[in-house]
Amino acid sequence: MTDQAHDRLLIIDFGSQVTQLIARRLRELNVYCEIHPFQSVTDAFLDDFNPKAVILSGGPASVVHEGSPRPPASVFTRSVPVLGICYGQQVMMQMLGGRVEGGKISGGGGTAEFGRAYVIPTSQSPLLDGWFDTGREQVWMSHGDHVADLAPGFEVFGTSPNAPFAITADPARNFFAVQFHPEVHHTPKGAKLYENFVRLAGFTGDWTMNAYRDEAIRKIRETVGDKKVICGLSGGVDSSVAAVLIHEAIGDQLTCVFVDHGLLRLNEADEVVKMFRDNYNIPLIHADESELFLGELDGQSDPETKRKIIGRLFIDVFQKYANEIEGAEFLAQGTLYPDVIESVSFSGGPSVTIKSHHNVGGLPEKMGLKLVEPLRELFKDEVRALGRELGLPASFIGRHPFPGPGLAIRCPGEITRDKLEILRLADAVYIDQIRKHGLYDEIWQAFAAILPVRTVGVMGDGRTYDYACALRAVTSVDGMTADYYPFDHDFMGETVTRIINEVPGINRVFYDVTSKPPGTIEME
Ligand code: XMP
Repeated sequence: MTDQAHDRLLIIDFGSQVTQLIARRLRELNVYCEIHPFQSVTDAFLDDFNPKAVILSGGPASVVHEGSPRPPASVFTRSVPVLGICYGQQVMMQMLGGRVEGGKISGGGGTAEFGRAYVIPTSQSPLLDGWFDTGREQVWMSHGDHVADLAPGFEVFGTSPNAPFAITADPARNFFAVQFHPEVHHTPKGAKLYENFVRLAGFTGDWTMNAYRDEAIRKIRETVGDKKVICGLSGGVDSSVAAVLIHEAIGDQLTCVFVDHGLLRLNEADEVVKMFRDNYNIPLIHADESELFLGELDGQSDPETKRKIIGRLFIDVFQKYANEIEGAEFLAQGTLYPDVIESVSFSGGPSVTIKSHHNVGGLPEKMGLKLVEPLRELFKDEVRALGRELGLPASFIGRHPFPGPGLAIRCPGEITRDKLEILRLADAVYIDQIRKHGLYDEIWQAFAAILPVRTVGVMGDGRTYDYACALRAVTSVDGMTADYYPFDHDFMGETVTRIINEVPGINRVFYDVTSKPPGTIEME
């Protein structure tokens, strides 16, 4: 969405894995922002975007290396406040006449610094309002290089043992630059820095969910005109919110297609179709394509191959149904912002590809459908807020996220129908336990996975040689980072007993206590 009615902040991305968290912090402040990779930010782009402030993200490159990424020099001559973070600080210093020294990683002699550090103030700055009440602030450092000489006009406002220029600013030009990452959880008061920065830049906090809804509806109408749209409905929050939003915008020009790829949870297809037909008057096609998907996945064990097969088949199936709907020119998807970011590779943007999400990447030319992705700028909790704004039932909004590739990525290695059956039952028992104990709403996502390993057990007087199952439950705000949920041992014991007693084919259960990072939420 590039609506000029709002104050707009531009984040220039140099490839940090946490750039999206900057956007998130800003949205919490009701500030409209967009992230654009440095390659696409040209002078003309800046004129068109007309940012009220600019943030330069961190990134893996070293400014001391030739050809390392730079923003256009005009970023610094537009008379708008600029905040540089980590690599952003270094690039700013280098371009404005300072000097950066390479650390060990980039071949220089300096020290690198990764992890927790403490900054103490050396001078007062409005950027630091609310900081240093207790004399020092914890920050998260992650840098190889460091600034050795400040650019003219800059002063030091905060320092840490390994980063003498931890917080710097040129107050006359409203340029600020920090060596650490204020956007991450490990800089506990980082949000306050962003709040101070946008206040200094004159943002009024005019970006609300109500405004988003109105703009999104207007944009959908503008894009779609009198053409027809088909929407892939999964029954999850994202596609449901997308469908209701689009329905509000264009009414019966929308047809929803619910694809059963054979990788859904127990009774899920029936429940989703019933839920949608009972609550909404939106034309809905129930496409049972499980044979097609499971057939093509047969024998495949590589995670990316599995994801790509599912992604390709989804597109084929949509094409098939789109062809049946006369005049359908658009495909709507509930793609969220984290999906977009995690799927961007260096060729499109700077961060490393973690997983190929089946629902992004655009549609092949041959399909002849254009994409409508009205949630593309939103994080999960923002989608829930939009859902509430649209009056969706709480049961929709509260559902745990379920990934597009479904149980395929909860069945590491080869998928078989037997394994899927076992997995469905185990998952149902697990979720039932969580609901019975009143924990469902405390957890971001909980699910069972069937591991590609069988182990020996003893039941009754007999030997068993059955699958092992893993249980996962995480808390998270946006799916970008996550902590495992600390179930108590009584709950664990009861749940494991129920799964082993009620699910034939499983004789051992593990609980996954990996956070994200370093793990991901799903197994593949
Ligand atoms: P990971 O496993 O990457 O998951 O930590 C983060 C969140 O994204 C969901 N997920 C997906 N959602 N299509 C989706 O719509 C996908 O391909 C996909 N892969 C993962 C996952 O369930 C979690 O909520």
